[in-house]
Amino acid sequence: MKLLSIRSNRHTIRYSSFSGMLLCAFMLVILSACSSVSSDSAADQHAQHQQPSSAQSSTAAQTETTATTSDHSMSHGDMSSMAAPEGSSSTIPNQVTTDQKVVNGKEVTLTAQASNLEIEKGKYLPVWTFNNSVPGPQIQVTEGDTVTVHLKNKLDVPVTIHFHGVVLPHAMDGVPGVTQDAVQPGKTFTYTFKAMHAGTYWYHSHQDSLNQIGRGLYGTFVVHPKKALTDDIDRTFVLDEWNDPHTYPANTEQNMTALNSNMGAYNLYTINGRSGNQIDPLYVNTGQQVRLRFVNAGNMTQLLYIPLASYQVVSTDGEDIHKPQKLSNGLLRIAPGERYDIVFTATNQGITTIGAVGDSDFARSMRLPVVVSTQGQRPNVQQVNEEVSRQQQHLTTTDVSGWQELDLMTYGQPAASPFTGNQKYDRQYNLKLSMGVSNGKMAYTINDEAYADLKALTVRTGDTVKITLSAPSGNEDHPMHLHGHVFQVLSRNGKAATGSPVWKDTLNVRPGETYEIAVLADNPGNWMLHCHELHHASMGMMIDFNYEDFQSSYQPDQSINNMSE
Ligand code: C2O
Ligand code: CU
Repeated sequence: MKLLSIRSNRHTIRYSSFSGMLLCAFMLVILSACSSVSSDSAADQHAQHQQPSSAQSSTAAQTETTATTSDHSMSHGDMSSMAAPEGSSSTIPNQVTTDQKVVNGKEVTLTAQASNLEIEKGKYLPVWTFNNSVPGPQIQVTEGDTVTVHLKNKLDVPVTIHFHGVVLPHAMDGVPGVTQDAVQPGKTFTYTFKAMHAGTYWYHSHQDSLNQIGRGLYGTFVVHPKKALTDDIDRTFVLDEWNDPHTYPANTEQNMTALNSNMGAYNLYTINGRSGNQIDPLYVNTGQQVRLRFVNAGNMTQLLYIPLASYQVVSTDGEDIHKPQKLSNGLLRIAPGERYDIVFTATNQGITTIGAVGDSDFARSMRLPVVVSTQGQRPNVQQVNEEVSRQQQHLTTTDVSGWQELDLMTYGQPAASPFTGNQKYDRQYNLKLSMGVSNGKMAYTINDEAYADLKALTVRTGDTVKITLSAPSGNEDHPMHLHGHVFQVLSRNGKAATGSPVWKDTLNVRPGETYEIAVLADNPGNWMLHCHELHHASMGMMIDFNYEDFQSSYQPDQSINNMSE
């Protein structure tokens, strides 16, 4: 569990692991003199086609596909010092994050490096980045492409890259101590694999992941189908949450309460590393077809209100939903690690706000204005912000409990699928997710044991495997993620899925729920199955999923601090 203490007066923020080990100390500096271009021009940039920086991708270039355009993430001064200074106070960040780029994944270098993110206007948070942006570059490829990613580590801690949800060979899975040694400072590692399945994915470090993802070491990965999508606008939005030490400036009562909760002390929610008014509106011309890809890179489940008169949720975790019904003004719950693509055609002119539900400033800061207009008739940013604030105020103070929420178990139309609940499976496992004490420490447990003590689930190549996941006690979500595979969700609370076959790589098991999932063991390796609320994973909620007939050629270097969570 990440703890966080803030020394008063010094603007010094400390993160330490659950065991109390001090990982790092950072200074925070308020840069008041940072220049900023007006948001109007950012909006105009948004309207332009964004193309992958490599000329090779034709598919990607057909849609407007960047996740964020920054109007104010400019570089300041000396770029040479990559590591954040330790311990001291009040120097100006010499490195500030830049715009997120779209890159062609046929060959790309991702450099892990320290920077500072302007998380609110004039407020900088020390972050760890890929290529100096948060999120890191969006990697795009086309189905069938061979992806080559060179990881270069310019941080002073070891890192890896895990491609979340991507079915790839074991050696490329990026789990330190399981598939590779963590990449040491100054070193490089090359990931290469074939992108076999179109969809929305993300990548992140898997070394000390609670800490490293929490600091910003992630980005998105989009695999386009061979036959290009027809969307006019295709954008990705990454949800995350942070601790903004400016909001809780010292060891206040409020801060300590937050610290004691498992959520950590999150007090700022972001979309693509920005919050509130800093989030650029999405400008759409009437008649355009729009795809929004949502990715949750944080540790909190977010409930988004989608105030669109007609839209479809067309895919989740990179898997298309079969014949998805039209939805109207619904709620979309997105748990850590999950992805959802929604598609709509802009018809009604006006400003709507896709935003997090919840009566807090935190929730209000997570909102995406969608501005539909005829070309050349756009409201200005001020008008947009005023309208959005009004809508947000209303949303976050309205009881939404009766509102319609997407339920994948009944959504879409049935189609042929390989698994049913009552067929015979080669292996069956029951995993009970809960909380307890393990070896004298508080732990998140599977069948009452924490990771190190848990016996691996074992399979053989070709096995059909049924896993029952249940959370009979507790009041927290457990978004369970299986590496290297996608699985079919058969039932919830004893009721079979009635809509489209549900394929996931991350399944949110909510309090009181029981799910049956089925997976075909067709990707030999040693894989992880863990909760993507990474506090839970780091406190024991993970288990190995190992092939008995797989012999790994990787031998961990015992001198390296490989730390998968
Ligand atoms: Cu998104 Cu094991 O990770
Ligand atoms: Cu959990």
